[in-house]
Amino acid sequence: MSTRTPFIAGNWKLNLSGEEGIALVQALAKPAAVSRAEVAVFPTALALQAVAKAAAGSRIGVGGQNCHWEEKGAFTGEVSASLLKAAGARYVILGHSERRQFFGETDQTVNRKLTAVLAQGLVPIVCIGETLAERDGGKLEEVLSRQVRGACAGLSATQLGTLVIAYEPIWAIGTGRTATTQQAQDAHAFVRSQVHALFGGLADRVRIQYGGSVKPDNAKELLAQPDVDGALVGGASLKAGDFGAIIAAA
Ligand code: PGA
Repeated sequence: MSTRTPFIAGNWKLNLSGEEGIALVQALAKPAAVSRAEVAVFPTALALQAVAKAAAGSRIGVGGQNCHWEEKGAFTGEVSASLLKAAGARYVILGHSERRQFFGETDQTVNRKLTAVLAQGLVPIVCIGETLAERDGGKLEEVLSRQVRGACAGLSATQLGTLVIAYEPIWAIGTGRTATTQQAQDAHAFVRSQVHALFGGLADRVRIQYGGSVKPDNAKELLAQPDVDGALVGGASLKAGDFGAIIAAA
């Protein structure tokens, strides 16, 4: 077992009001199963402050699902890393495949956002992953390598000290179709090798979460893989019972 602390993150996406989010963290904060995992939830920007207040003093951290790279200015509709931090966030998800697919995010914008998030002392979760066509076309390693290099361009191992990467095969997100444990382990080991090539010893510390249809019944096996250091959970993070079971599996 690695010495890396497993990290279970719940990406609520465009779900749950502030009130619903408060109820969920209160249910999760109850003395549930013992787990050594670090745990965080990612409410909408609007619900974040209320959820962070409700989670204060518990083992559950709170983070944003996205942010802009500028701190302030004429950027209608955006939220900055510093505002997320002021609202109680300790983490920010960057480059989720839904943002890349529906909102035009690129490795370059992820890189700018990552720089902003690190400058605020927040913990980034950088999402990477291939489409089914890319995997079937033998492009898996090329895609993952490009995404890691692109996100981290111009940053040093020292700056990236808290980096978390989420490997999320796009064909497994919200589809009920999970990567096999072997596919997950192979991709994670490859991503770690890329971090090693770029940043040496950081590779041993960087936590790589698996994401894509993680459920209570597949979490244990996935999390038992040597290079799988946690999970980024979508659908199953919206129910206290399911998310609690995944936390317990870590
Ligand atoms: P899912 O989402 O668990 O619902 O597949 C994962 C994610 O998009 O982070």
